[in-house]
Amino acid sequence: MIRFGHIDIDFDDRVLTPRTWTVRQSEWAAKLAAELPDGPILELCSGAGQIGLLAAALTGRRLVCVDADPVACAFTRANAERAGLAPLVEVRQGSMEHALDPDERYWLVIADPPWVPTAQVERYPEDPRMAIDGGADGMLIAEACLATTARHLSPGGAAVLQLGTTGQADRLLEMVEGSDLTIEEVRDSPGEGVLVHVARAARPSMSGRPAGYQRT
Ligand SMILES: C[S@@+](CC[C@H](N)C(=O)[O-])C[C@H]1O[C@@H](n2cnc3c(N)ncnc32)[C@H](O)[C@@H]1O
Repeated sequence: MIRFGHIDIDFDDRVLTPRTWTVRQSEWAAKLAAELPDGPILELCSGAGQIGLLAAALTGRRLVCVDADPVACAFTRANAERAGLAPLVEVRQGSMEHALDPDERYWLVIADPPWVPTAQVERYPEDPRMAIDGGADGMLIAEACLATTARHLSPGGAAVLQLGTTGQADRLLEMVEGSDLTIEEVRDSPGEGVLVHVARAARPSMSGRPAGYQRT
């Protein structure tokens, strides 16, 4: 059990150990939520659920968690119950490509995909492979998160996506070029990870460019 923000999160070695720095992802999402209309938060790759649960606790919004791993989903349900958040939380076990109805729309998306390149996963023997293996360049599941966000984010909505490096954030920028999604800001926590604010303009633009990089 760890303390994550002001809530307790249970987990074991079958799921990724929660990283306490990712409290910043919950807090950033909560700050963005203050400017968005009411509605549930969608969390992709929720693991034990801590990032989305803290965002739900900070905002009072409902939360839909999606994770392919049934053990992770069981922890999310138990953690929601313990935190008194169960009435706000729906947990869907399955791959993100199949867990959402085509017409579901969200104002706010949180995503924490595996982002370790396959050739490097052996460096992290304590972590479950499914939780960290991001394919050849580490971007395979991140790209799926971006595609899912593109399908389900409302115009004017926001997403906070976690990646491993600023190089991966640059790849994300290339992926949104020419779409109606933009990279608004990239926050680098060196040695820990990178958070990226992705937005869909209320009125579409094609810029795609970030306002800049910020180290935290
Ligand atoms: C990096 S872990 C993040 C877990 C949690 N958010 C955390 O911070 O501890 C990635 C999670 O993505 C899930 N996952 C991997 N591929 C997925 C997919 N295609 N659809 C849904 N979840 C997936 C894994 O089961 C794992 O729980």
